[in-house]
Amino acid sequence: MSATSVIIIAVVAVVVLGGAAFASLARRSDVRGAGALSDETVARDRAARKARQTAESGPTAASVEAEGVAARAGTSVAVAEDRAPVPFVPADPEAIGVSRRQFFNRATISLMSAGIGAFAAASFVAFLWPTKTGGFGGKVSIGRYDDVVSGIRSGRGFFYAPEARAWITEYPVDVVPKAEGIYKESLMPGLQRGLIASYQKCPHLGCRVPECSSSQWFECGCHGSMYNRVGEKKGGPAPRGLDHFPLEFSASGEVFVDTGTIVQGVPIGVNTTGQEAEGPHCVGASDH
Ligand code: FES
Repeated sequence: MSATSVIIIAVVAVVVLGGAAFASLARRSDVRGAGALSDETVARDRAARKARQTAESGPTAASVEAEGVAARAGTSVAVAEDRAPVPFVPADPEAIGVSRRQFFNRATISLMSAGIGAFAAASFVAFLWPTKTGGFGGKVSIGRYDDVVSGIRSGRGFFYAPEARAWITEYPVDVVPKAEGIYKESLMPGLQRGLIASYQKCPHLGCRVPECSSSQWFECGCHGSMYNRVGEKKGGPAPRGLDHFPLEFSASGEVFVDTGTIVQGVPIGVNTTGQEAEGPHCVGASDH
């Protein structure tokens, strides 16, 4: 074969192949345009997308039902084994033991109970324990009768008993009949022995009332209330005379002031002794 023949055959083959390729490309452009996918590719993509959606959304109700029916087919329901009930047996506290919280709770309650019990027992014993003499609020011994009288006279008419918070003064025995019916019965034993105990607290507003040696009265420095030597009111804003305590006398001659019993002072205007001021007053004169 000559070279010319080979060239001619090659040219013809190229022309034929080029024509076939051109025809194929022209057909696809007529149907979907350039870049369109083939039917097989589209079908494959659709199937893959459906499978992916099913996997994401989980099984459908129909598929679950179908699986259940298939699983029950040919099977029976299991029946529980019949067993007798087991009786309850409480736990042994010794075996359980005591927790830390329980221990502290019980210790606290025990200590509190013991403390309250001890306090109550001590109070009860103290309440019942006999006291020979007591402080203010009880019966206060102020010494023997003779010593008290001499103390009054050496004190220029006044004897102060600090433990009893009281002034002891002489009450004229010759006027005791005047006092009957005016002074309380509890004060009469003292009056009949020529003594009276007056509470130092002013019945006006509670100041301590001192004695006044010059006037021989009690004269309150707070607002000027005045009382004679036996505590009967003589002037000032006080609503009554000085309050009193009963006096008791033992067989051995000891004198007690019963500071647990406060006897209200006599009313304004009572003046059984008739004692007037015997000298200058110690505080400013008031309405006496
Ligand atoms: S307190 Fe004594 S006169 Fe007022």
